[in-house]
Amino acid sequence: PKTQEKARLLETRRVAEDTHRIALYAPRITATARPGQFVMVRITSEGTDPLLNRPFSFHRIHKDDGLFEILFRVVGRGTWLLSQRKEGETLEVIGPLGNFFTLPPAHEETVALVAGGIGIAPMEEWGHRLAQWARGDEARRVYLFYGARTASEVVPTRRLERKGVTTFISTDDGTLGRCGTALDLLDQTCRDLSIRPQRLYSCGPLAMQAAVATWARQQNLPAVMSLESVMACGIGACLGCALPAVPPDDSSRIHYVHVCKEGPVFDSRKILW
Ligand code: FES
Repeated sequence: PKTQEKARLLETRRVAEDTHRIALYAPRITATARPGQFVMVRITSEGTDPLLNRPFSFHRIHKDDGLFEILFRVVGRGTWLLSQRKEGETLEVIGPLGNFFTLPPAHEETVALVAGGIGIAPMEEWGHRLAQWARGDEARRVYLFYGARTASEVVPTRRLERKGVTTFISTDDGTLGRCGTALDLLDQTCRDLSIRPQRLYSCGPLAMQAAVATWARQQNLPAVMSLESVMACGIGACLGCALPAVPPDDSSRIHYVHVCKEGPVFDSRKILW
C-alpha cells in the first residue's frame, strides 16, 4: 500500500562523480518496499521554485532499520537541490510505487543483471535478493554486467561481489574494465567465459534497453527491464511517462503503457522499441 511519509535524511554521501546516495528513515514505506519499486520524492527549495517531484528506485532496503537508500546522478535542478539536502532534514516521500522484480522460475539457474550508468540503482537491491536466491542452490549463478561512461562515474559494487554476485565492468572510454557498453560487455564475456544466462534483468538509458531487448530476442532469452522515464506525478495522472507498447489484442491500434503505473518493470517483448 502506498503511503506518504515524512522521511528523515540519515546520511548523504557522494559515491562517484556527480552521483549521490541518500539514506532515508521512513519505516512505513520501507515495511512494504520491494526491489524494482520506486518512490516519488518532493524536492522543495527556499525560493519561489515550484514543487519538484522526482522518482527514485529503491537502491537498498533495510527492513530491520526502517530505512531505504536511493542513488541518483545530478542531471538538473531537482537532483542538484536534492544533493544539497543535509543530514537531519526531512523530505516528503510517497511510495512504494509501481510493480517489482520477481524471482526466476524454478528451472532457471543462471541469471544476468545488466546495468548502464545510473541504471545500477535498482540492481543493487535486486542483486542482493538474487544472491540470497542463489545461496539456496549450488547450481545457481548471478552475474552483473555494469557499464558506465568513465571510471570516475562507476559506483562501487563491492557489496554485491561480497554477496556472491560475479561482477564485470566496462566503460565507454576504457578507463576501467573492458572498453565498450554494458551490452558489449555482456556479449563478449558470455562468449569468452561460456556463460549462458537464462534470463536478463536490466536497467539503464532507453537506447541501451532497446539494444539489450534486441540481443535478448536474438538469444531467445527473457529480459525483464526496469524502465526509466520522465515522471511528473508517479501515480498515473499526468501521462508524462507513457511508452508505446505492443497491443495486447493483436490489433494495430497504438497502445501505450504508463511506466509509473503498469511498470516500471516490464517484459522487454511488451514494449515497441
Ligand atoms: Fe504521471 Fe506516469 S508519471 S502518469
